[in-house]
Amino acid sequence: MKVLVTGGAGYIGSTTCKALEEAGHVPVVLDSLLTGPRAFVGDRIFYEGDVGDRSLLRRVVGEHPDIDCTIHMAARIVVPESVAQPVLYYRDNVAKSLDLFDELVALGKPRVVFSSSASLYGLVESFEVDESAPLDPPSPYARTKRMVEQILEDMSVATDLRAVVLRYFNPIGSDPDLQSGVYAKEPSHVLGQMLLAATGKKDTFTVTGTDHPTRDGTGIRDYLHVWDLARAHVAAVERFETVLGRLSEPSTVINLGTGHGVTVRELLATFEQVTGLKVPTLETGPRPGDAVGAFANVDKAREVMGWESELSLADGIGSALAWNERRREVLGYE
Ligand SMILES: NC(=O)c1ccc[n+]([C@@H]2O[C@H](COP(=O)([O-])OP(=O)(O)OC[C@H]3O[C@@H](n4cnc5c(N)ncnc54)[C@H](O)[C@@H]3O)[C@@H](O)[C@H]2O)c1
Repeated sequence: MKVLVTGGAGYIGSTTCKALEEAGHVPVVLDSLLTGPRAFVGDRIFYEGDVGDRSLLRRVVGEHPDIDCTIHMAARIVVPESVAQPVLYYRDNVAKSLDLFDELVALGKPRVVFSSSASLYGLVESFEVDESAPLDPPSPYARTKRMVEQILEDMSVATDLRAVVLRYFNPIGSDPDLQSGVYAKEPSHVLGQMLLAATGKKDTFTVTGTDHPTRDGTGIRDYLHVWDLARAHVAAVERFETVLGRLSEPSTVINLGTGHGVTVRELLATFEQVTGLKVPTLETGPRPGDAVGAFANVDKAREVMGWESELSLADGIGSALAWNERRREVLGYE
């Protein structure tokens, strides 16, 4: 299969391209390089441009009429930036996605797999959320994801568009050959922060919030190895028609996680065990808007897509550490 991957120069996009290739498919990358590094595209088929550029999209499909499916990952993804600059986020993530889907339908390419996020979920007592759990997107970023989900749902009723919406939990790690990984200079996510503190690039790792209603008071997440996440996209494109056919729906939402909740303290303990490094830690109150968190019920992914995660938390941490040591070679910076 030939698969258009928007955002294919990004962290998850480049890993997904690799998983597609390993499964015998051909990715076609469309990315503006707004944030994604050129090095992550390698020698793949590549169009540098914006997902909202309809004439570029017509050129891509004209040159690759055998594209079967589009994985739409291109987005702005920084939560605090979305609070400060919501217009950028609604324009790039929502308005441009609308143009992309409208053009794809017009071009006769109606199959879309969309990267959504577990950050849409509201707080549930057990912390385990299935796809019907209540939503409460806490930031403009998360709201852009929800809006695009709604656009896909409505378009799938009214047009030929068909959609598989994947709600990712918390990806960590790199691809097995360490060709791509987290590329932010100062990663804001919890594992990146732990790595910075463990390697002396930051004084301490701050545990923000120790009074949450979880088993040890710290926030809970579902850390999914990015290689497992990438493989889930292979399953989604290969079984696209089967998934929607089995559900008798023109669009559907599927959680992608491990099914296990891990608290910040548990992550810290596993991190120290796997890496042998000591993480200097500081505990503070929660930051405004910090989510207590959730973990995925993954029954639907298993049942309709035949996918489940295979790699462990320790694998993900080990892979993040290995990538951290190699990334200067790939990116030219630490
Ligand atoms: N990383 C996470 O923790 C996480 C969690 C849930 C969902 N997601 C979603 O997964 C997707 C990929 O995330 P990622 O972590 O790989 O992010 P990333 O920033 O590494 O990748 C996004 C890519 O999209 C490109 N891009 C952005 N705007 C564009 C535009 N208008 N036109 C063309 N290209 C554009 C960027 O250059 C970048 O290469 C995003 O949609 C994100 O919202 C990520």
